[in-house]
Amino acid sequence: MSALGHPEGESVSTQGSGSPVGAPAMDAELQRRVLEGLQQPHKSLPAALFYDDEGTRLFQQITALPEYYLTRAEDALLRAQAEAMAALLTPPHGSALELVELGSGDGAKTLPLCAALHARCATLVYRPVDTAALALQQLVARFAAALPALPVAPVCGDYFRHWPAARPSARQAALFMGSNLGNYTRDEALALLRGVRDRLAAGDRLLLGLDLKKDPHAIRAAYDDAAGITAQFNLNLLRRLNRECGFDFDLAHFRHYASYDPLDGTARSFLVSRCAQRVASRTLGVTLHFAAGETIYTEQSQKYDAPLIEALAAGSGFAVERHFTDAPGGYTVVAWRAA
Ligand code: TRP
Repeated sequence: MSALGHPEGESVSTQGSGSPVGAPAMDAELQRRVLEGLQQPHKSLPAALFYDDEGTRLFQQITALPEYYLTRAEDALLRAQAEAMAALLTPPHGSALELVELGSGDGAKTLPLCAALHARCATLVYRPVDTAALALQQLVARFAAALPALPVAPVCGDYFRHWPAARPSARQAALFMGSNLGNYTRDEALALLRGVRDRLAAGDRLLLGLDLKKDPHAIRAAYDDAAGITAQFNLNLLRRLNRECGFDFDLAHFRHYASYDPLDGTARSFLVSRCAQRVASRTLGVTLHFAAGETIYTEQSQKYDAPLIEALAAGSGFAVERHFTDAPGGYTVVAWRAA
């Protein structure tokens, strides 16, 4: 296998500039979910919509913001604990290992762990799965430069439709970082975790990066930064709907709003209509009505504590094996063992 594997699943077609050709049409299933969400009494949009190329760039800017502590906390943990995590993930008896990462992004955070694992386990294959083609291209370039001997087999597409096949007799380990689990509802999160469990063998590990409950000010600020990048990230959803679904949203007529509720540990983002307005898509033949102050619910970000983590593991066929928690106690990477 070559170190520069070609993505399976949906193609990552680009021109020399690195940006996709033309205005991409939206995947039919995603379009169906968009319309369904916008026609609910309380309008909402699926979080899967965030990561077009512009969304990927904006999210990379978010990860460097002073308020957005999540990425720095996770990076530091993955760096400081790379050896311990690699020791935990290395299969016994010299079995081959497949590292499947759901939502790898550009792979920057995973590089130290991959380096430590590769040093222990020469047969390691890294299989990053992501819907963001741009991020995967960056990942491939990053790994080719830093770890040229590690085979990287990227997969562009939906986690489960494109779960990569393992070599026969290889063990698998799964990674799901960035507190991305928190962007799913509890039922969706359980379904996703069961889906991961079904694809693993008993004894295989899942490493999960999870943001912990903490001072509500710090959490809310992470989703409402002073420079307004998160607002742009949220508003970019409307730009994408204009481009890919023919809507005529005027971005100046919507405003970002973020909340955090310490009772349920959920941060939520919304887009607020600044005025009474009508928005239409000729392509889809729909007209939406907004009252002044009406909101579109665009994402949630669950914050965790030990009981919640235990319940999720028990509810999806895993046992909690170890917590790698940072010194301030604000972020954790948990290792689960498939029961
Ligand atoms: N998972 C990260 C978080 O909760 C990043 C994130 C924010 C995100 N909003 C998102 C990921 C929407 C997917 C979709 O902070």
